[in-house]
Amino acid sequence: MRVISSCDALLSVYYPQIFLILTSGSYLALSSVVALGANIICNKIPGLAPRQRAICQSRPDAIIVIGEGAQMGINECQYQFRYGRWNCSALGEKTVFGQELRVGSKEAAFTYAITAAGVAHAVAAACSHGNLSHCGCDGEKQGYHDQQEGWRWGGCSTDVKYGVELSRRFVDAREVKKNARRLMNLHNNEAGRKVLEERMKLECKCHGVSGSCTTKTCWTTLPKFREVGYALKERYGTALQVEVVRATRLRQPSFLRLKQSHGYIKPTEMDLVYLERSPNYCEEDVATGSAGTRGRFCNHTSPHTDACHLMCCGRGHDTRQDTRVWQCNCKFQWCCFVKCNTCSENMQVFTCK
Ligand SMILES: *[C@@H]1O[C@H](CO)[C@@H](O)[C@H](O)[C@H]1NC(C)=O
Ligand SMILES: *[C@@H]1O[C@H](CO)[C@@H](O)[C@H](O)[C@H]1NC(C)=O
Ligand SMILES: *[C@@H]1O[C@H](CO)[C@@H](O)[C@H](O)[C@H]1NC(C)=O
Repeated sequence: MRVISSCDALLSVYYPQIFLILTSGSYLALSSVVALGANIICNKIPGLAPRQRAICQSRPDAIIVIGEGAQMGINECQYQFRYGRWNCSALGEKTVFGQELRVGSKEAAFTYAITAAGVAHAVAAACSHGNLSHCGCDGEKQGYHDQQEGWRWGGCSTDVKYGVELSRRFVDAREVKKNARRLMNLHNNEAGRKVLEERMKLECKCHGVSGSCTTKTCWTTLPKFREVGYALKERYGTALQVEVVRATRLRQPSFLRLKQSHGYIKPTEMDLVYLERSPNYCEEDVATGSAGTRGRFCNHTSPHTDACHLMCCGRGHDTRQDTRVWQCNCKFQWCCFVKCNTCSENMQVFTCK
């Protein structure tokens, strides 16, 4: 394991609600967290809410996994929106440390949901791998279950509930202000986790002479995170605009209802919800979380929204020649190295004006 000698290797990037721990390499060994001491690390991470700092100090091993889960969520977000004018980075990158962006758009909804789901996914996976000290396989799913159907729980069922619970405790702890955005964020965090739970899979294995399935053992496993990404992207497409209802005497935001609905129709648990219509993301505007599309790559022949006329919002684009270089024709040589050629290709690249 690599040991980090200095705290400066910890670089944290603050997103509206989450933070990511990135190390100058890529992997922060658990032993080094222990060696450095939880106090030092937890105090070095800017923008943690008090309850998050407390979790960090009591569970320093979990904090690494939480950071990786949040990063996985952001990576998936960038993948899902790779053709979009909004490419998932803007809501975060423009954020100053410790300062929240007041954006209540659909895109913010997606960011929150996928991050909360990423944290739950990563924690549950780490539990099954025996990587975290307070959790393991799902204890409820052990021993006989369904005599009639002839199968029983066996193997290691992923304890998704544990992941969801830690995500709830940690990610949701950022929402300290009692305002409409809080209700929106909490709803979307929960929707992300619900979509993950709904996608849990049952895997089974047959036992018996020569492949006959006289008995079966089954266990639950996590879906690939990509699948969660697609499911949430679909939810993003049907996200609902909501408004806040102030039902208490103090007129504090109490719950959300669908905008332009008569009566009090609430969104369902798995709906993504937003408060404000999105900008078109053509021009840079910090207030709406738009980074604009100047300098973005576009593609002349693409059928997606990365087509130049769509991506560049009618401003036109620049064209230049670029050489792409990569390793190719790699062959394994006895023993033991891999030999590759270098291939290159001249290509035109287009960037938005
Ligand atoms: C568990 O820890 C090992 C190294 O200690 C790491 O390589 C692996 O990716 C971790 N697995 C999960 C699911 O966190
Ligand atoms: C997203 O767009 C911004 C500018 O609009 C650009 O700086 C950034 O590199 C893009 N990120 C990705 C992951 O493509
Ligand atoms: C541009 O879009 C076309 C059509 O989808 C695709 O085949 C091509 O690989 C894309 N080019 C680049 C550079 O991404």
